[in-house]
Amino acid sequence: MRAMPLVLGGLGTVAVILWLATAPAGAVAPSPEAGADLAARWCAGCHVVGPSGAGTDSAPSFAAIAGRRDSAEIRAFLVKPHARPMRGFSLSTREIEDVAAYIETLEQRAETGR
Ligand code: HEC
Repeated sequence: MRAMPLVLGGLGTVAVILWLATAPAGAVAPSPEAGADLAARWCAGCHVVGPSGAGTDSAPSFAAIAGRRDSAEIRAFLVKPHARPMRGFSLSTREIEDVAAYIETLEQRAETGR
């Protein structure tokens, strides 16, 4: 039976591919860099998204949000669209993780003064 190892090997490959395709987004560490990109594109219209800057926005700055909310609160908030003028704005779980991770880095910077 020389074909048997080949068949088993083939099944193993299929299993790995299926596992990769179905692995939950949470299995990958959130990326603050991707979050910063996303914030610059989608959030900067209303929020001051950098570590500092008073800005003229009517929305709270991300640094201010970082100071008063923890990551779980930010993620919970972002599951729903906010600020009514935002048209059909909705973030994927992955995007929420990333942008929350980015906002967290602002708090760390505020604490260390960097
Ligand atoms: C159209 C303007 C607008 C855009 C775009 C926008 N926001 Fe906001 N956001 C607001 C306003 C106004 C508030 C304060 C009122 C409220 O809570 O709804 C707010 C509040 C928040 C809060 C909660 C602050 C708190 O202290 O509870 C978070 C977190 C937040 N925004 C994150 C984001 C992220 C992340 C993005 C981009 C993906 C984004 N916002 C895009 C206008 C905006």
